[in-house]
Amino acid sequence: MPYDIPSARALIRETEVHRDIYTSPEVFDLEMKHVFGNAWVYVGHASQIPAMGDFITTTTGVTPVVMVRRGDGGISVLYNRCPHKGTRVANELCGNAGRFFRCPYHAWSFRLDGSIAAIPMPEAYARTEFKGSEAAKGMTPVAAVHVYRDFVFARLAAEGIGFEDFFGDSLSSLDNMVDRSPVGRLEVAGGVLRYLHHCNYKMLMENLTDTCHPMVAHESSAGTAVAVWNTMPPGTPKHPAVEIYAPFMSSYQAFDSMGVQVWPNGHGHTGVSHSIHSDYSAIPGYYEQMVAAHGEEKARRILDTNRHNTAYFPNMTMKGPIQALRIFKPIAADKTMVESWTFRLVGAPDKLLERTLMYSRLINAPTSPVGHDDLEMYERAQDALHADGNVWINTQRNYDPGETPEDTAVTNGTTERQMRNQLRAWKKFMAERVVA
Ligand code: FES
Ligand SMILES: [Fe+2]
Repeated sequence: MPYDIPSARALIRETEVHRDIYTSPEVFDLEMKHVFGNAWVYVGHASQIPAMGDFITTTTGVTPVVMVRRGDGGISVLYNRCPHKGTRVANELCGNAGRFFRCPYHAWSFRLDGSIAAIPMPEAYARTEFKGSEAAKGMTPVAAVHVYRDFVFARLAAEGIGFEDFFGDSLSSLDNMVDRSPVGRLEVAGGVLRYLHHCNYKMLMENLTDTCHPMVAHESSAGTAVAVWNTMPPGTPKHPAVEIYAPFMSSYQAFDSMGVQVWPNGHGHTGVSHSIHSDYSAIPGYYEQMVAAHGEEKARRILDTNRHNTAYFPNMTMKGPIQALRIFKPIAADKTMVESWTFRLVGAPDKLLERTLMYSRLINAPTSPVGHDDLEMYERAQDALHADGNVWINTQRNYDPGETPEDTAVTNGTTERQMRNQLRAWKKFMAERVVA
């Protein structure tokens, strides 16, 4: 069925949502253009491009962009498209361009801010109006870029919501992750795990705050680990993997008491009072470093904040207590590239990075037993949603008729409120986009 902005928005009701937002290629195209165009989308981390000319290539929605370190130390985010015939200019996932990007097709070259440095045979354009052409502007910079504590975000729309208004108090989760470094700085470390999912990216976003699935969907993996652990003789030292698996088998009551926080514009997190990350063993020497850096009270405040998943609308999720970030990159209505990134807390013991890497391997990697439980559920849903008997998905658990899209609230932990919050944000940002 043909969709436009109003009919796409009508797919989201207060407590149910039409399956076409997960399955329709037409809705997907509108979503990429408008929702991802109007929102602030994570691009990358400044530590990935420390030197002049360093770049990474990525996408915001499905738009190819390149993030590059300029000679003046600043960061540019450019559409990764040659102004001549549209060829993708930077092809590798990361690299160093030197002082210029050079298009592989006809060798037009561009400074690191995107402006044209040179084109072959300039005399061929001498009698043209080339200077006034679109091409003469070079590689187009993305309309709005904001760097927050080394995290780089971009908004494609020329006008729209400001960075601070978009994220508001949800930045407290990002702050907490960075503040866990005794010097207040993170570095991407340990590479990236990429994992292709044949499902819509929103299923992953919604799953992040779905605390009623772990004890069911992960029984075969985490439940088995716990069962094996229970057969060990008393006094057996707990393997770090068991520390990571066991909390997935927590009860409904345990997850309910952890709480959920929602913020405006679709952001929110699980694990308000405590979380599955609260009971990890202390890493020797780390607390002392934090006290030396911040004083005891502040160090305690930082380390006692153990939020589970913070969902940043539209497609990023963060785990502060283990310095992990996941991006759900939409490719098609039924295809998503999941990227798991890990960070080193600069100045902190390497054991913390080891734990993060272990968590990512056990829970989020293509080889993870736990990750496959979730993938199985997403792909079954992606497949069965095509059944016409019922075209609606229910998001009603703990619905409060007083909820609004601009709420800041703390609720019980097994609510589906954060899912409704994300869907309301989707509806809000599914709006005309101002193009430069
Ligand atoms: S397409 Fe890039 S130089 Fe021709
Ligand atoms: Fe899960």
